[in-house]
Amino acid sequence: MTKRRLTTAEVEYNEVRANVLSRVDAKYVADAPFVFANRITVTAALSRIELFKMVQDVPGAIIECGVYKGNSLMLYMQLSMILEPYAINRSIIGFDTFEGFASIDKDEDPTDINESMFSDTDETLIQDMIDANDLVRPVNRIPRCEIVKGDILQTVPEFVKTRPDLVVAMLILDTDLYSSTKVALETFLPYMPKGAIVVLDEVAYRNFPGETSALRDVLDMNKIELKRLPFDSSVGYFRI
Ligand SMILES: C[S@@+](CC[C@H](N)C(=O)[O-])C[C@H]1O[C@@H](n2cnc3c(N)ncnc32)[C@H](O)[C@@H]1O
Repeated sequence: MTKRRLTTAEVEYNEVRANVLSRVDAKYVADAPFVFANRITVTAALSRIELFKMVQDVPGAIIECGVYKGNSLMLYMQLSMILEPYAINRSIIGFDTFEGFASIDKDEDPTDINESMFSDTDETLIQDMIDANDLVRPVNRIPRCEIVKGDILQTVPEFVKTRPDLVVAMLILDTDLYSSTKVALETFLPYMPKGAIVVLDEVAYRNFPGETSALRDVLDMNKIELKRLPFDSSVGYFRI
């Protein structure tokens, strides 16, 4: 069972919201996103702001493995543009197939998932909004946010070969799956200085155990201080 069951009240909330959304256009929603955002979306935004603040004094890239529609990646880009506009050595880099789950491990990942999950996305929308934000930010000749399309099992090891300048300040692991989490950890950990943080979006979570088993297979759990945010139960993080 990988999907959280909704309560009757949540079903009713979703129906009311769908009705309200049917009365407005996309621009209205973009102009007043918190009118329509639910508790989970706002919690996710709040936890990303907390995490961003933890690495504001650590130089290097914020890397997100598992981007989906880009909500989290673009929030990190916004935070960087607002809170450190002249940080020319900060990159926000997102890795995803943009076609859904890939490299599902039959032993480590849930059996009731498939490759069509999370395929309802369009990376050209994300790229267009990265380009639009570039128009209005300072020092915009130096890229701040990039997306890398493809299976992380291939793209991540290839990427590090192209970036001799790479330092990773924050590694966000959010593919939900074992193999991609393992490859991302193995590849990026050598680039993370003391004080950098690793974030796992589904840690100690029984419905998606892959991120947790990859962490255990790559690192000695007794040697990391795994923490949670008090208000966001599924997110775990540790400092290098
Ligand atoms: C839970 S979603 C990410 C959500 C996103 N971080 C957010 O906060 O909105 C998981 C994503 O991981 C991606 N993914 C899963 N396996 C992958 C792989 N092997 N390579 C690249 N992307 C993968 C899926 O395409 C999906 O978009």
